[in-house]
Amino acid sequence: MAENIHPIFDSILSTSKKEGLLKQHGLVIWMVGLSGSGKSTIARALENRLHSEGYLTALLDGDNLRTGINNNLGFSEEDRTENIRRAAEASKLLANNGVITICSLISPTAQIRAMAKEIIGDKYCEVFINCPLEVCEQRDVKGLYAKARRGEIKSFTGIDSPFEHPGNPNVELNTAENSAEENLNELLKYILPKVKYSKS
Ligand code: ADX
Repeated sequence: MAENIHPIFDSILSTSKKEGLLKQHGLVIWMVGLSGSGKSTIARALENRLHSEGYLTALLDGDNLRTGINNNLGFSEEDRTENIRRAAEASKLLANNGVITICSLISPTAQIRAMAKEIIGDKYCEVFINCPLEVCEQRDVKGLYAKARRGEIKSFTGIDSPFEHPGNPNVELNTAENSAEENLNELLKYILPKVKYSKS
């Protein structure tokens, strides 16, 4: 703990007051998956849908964050850990102010995900966007797998950097087998009851 720091968590306006104002419950929807698995597509569709139903949302996307708050980080294990730590802290701030926060980051290891969960606490909800590496590589939307195979990108997740499948996600969606609409509906079934406002 930093010395000479005196947090005032106990005396600031509570999360439940913010949630009462917004008429929704804050939540962090943490999307995990390989590059090209469909995280961003599902994240965008989810955000659009929630927004159109009157919910206040925020979307934190790994690539976007890496242009700003995380622009000094690369893809070593250490940098990925710091990348996730900052994203988790930012999500926690948003969700504790009542915002439904959708995060889309590879989050490649169990350890990294455990850290995110530890930081965020009860509002953490893990969604595994499951898509076989071969399919992600075939899609190669950004052309990055081809570059990684040619050795032009080092430590690429799934190629020469590990991706550990989540063991116990809250929701698992398969983007190779199911349609985008099916996946979105499946996800909404889990999310909507959690964000719908109920005075407690
Ligand atoms: S994480 O591993 O730290 O969670 P994050 O989600 O922020 O990754 O960033 C992944 C995105 O960065 C990929 O979707 C891809 O566009 C880009 N990228 C560039 N280099 C790499 C790499 N070596 N490994 C994985 N993704 C990379």
